[in-house]
Amino acid sequence: MDNRAIGIFDSGVGGLTVLKEYQKLLPHENYIYFGDTARLPYGSKSKETICNFSKQIVEFLINQNVKLIVIACGTASAMAYNTLQKEFSIPIIDIISPTAKQIKDDNIGVIATKATIKSNSWEEEIHKYSPNTHVTSLACPLFVPLVEEGFATSEITPLVVKKYLSYFHEIPISSLILGCTHYPILENVIQDELGKEIKLINPGTYSAIYAKEYLMQNKLLHSQSSDGNIIFYSSDNEEYFKNIAETFFPIHNYEIHMEQMKA
Ligand code: DGL
Repeated sequence: MDNRAIGIFDSGVGGLTVLKEYQKLLPHENYIYFGDTARLPYGSKSKETICNFSKQIVEFLINQNVKLIVIACGTASAMAYNTLQKEFSIPIIDIISPTAKQIKDDNIGVIATKATIKSNSWEEEIHKYSPNTHVTSLACPLFVPLVEEGFATSEITPLVVKKYLSYFHEIPISSLILGCTHYPILENVIQDELGKEIKLINPGTYSAIYAKEYLMQNKLLHSQSSDGNIIFYSSDNEEYFKNIAETFFPIHNYEIHMEQMKA
């Protein structure tokens, strides 16, 4: 048993889609969530910058005495996971490798930020386990600002989604990985655009399955039988974080603090 919290981070509110999956599978765990809203978006930044931001956040979470760190950001998973693993001894789980290990499909689409797509991480990781899978990748850079501006249910969102995803009408895919953690917030609009026959894959689910196995195997689960607590940190105005998060996550039930990071 290990009653310390699980640390989890993203550039903003997108990682809450991962936290939701963790809560479903590991409801008795306590969580400390960090949203780096002051420095979002990560998806248009260099690898060096994303690694530096991620390292600072990992150090912050380690100082909060967490037992495990979850990179709930597709871009940081693609750009910083290897570096973080080398530099820190605390266990770190990303969203790409647990998903790539589990999915089996001949034709997979991946949508994510520009930085993630450019890194080719999804394709490389999928091919480690399924070398014959055909992977088609597409960056959808406007999806993150739509979510962060609170436009997920606005009438402009289906237009933007159509503009990007009509690309897949010509390409035979049977499943689509939502490779940026903000994208599951647009899941219904994406599904409407692509049609029900295409399966949408939320990598947060696979990350949570992997984490549960890891905690069980290493006897690190929390001992409580009641629901765990969450403490939120945001690197910019916590009201902003709260207002956007509240549209899809019941954040009013929990403590939220502002924690500024060095630029
Ligand atoms: N949720 C982050 C991701 O998964 C958003 C990236 C960004 O900040 O641009 O990639």
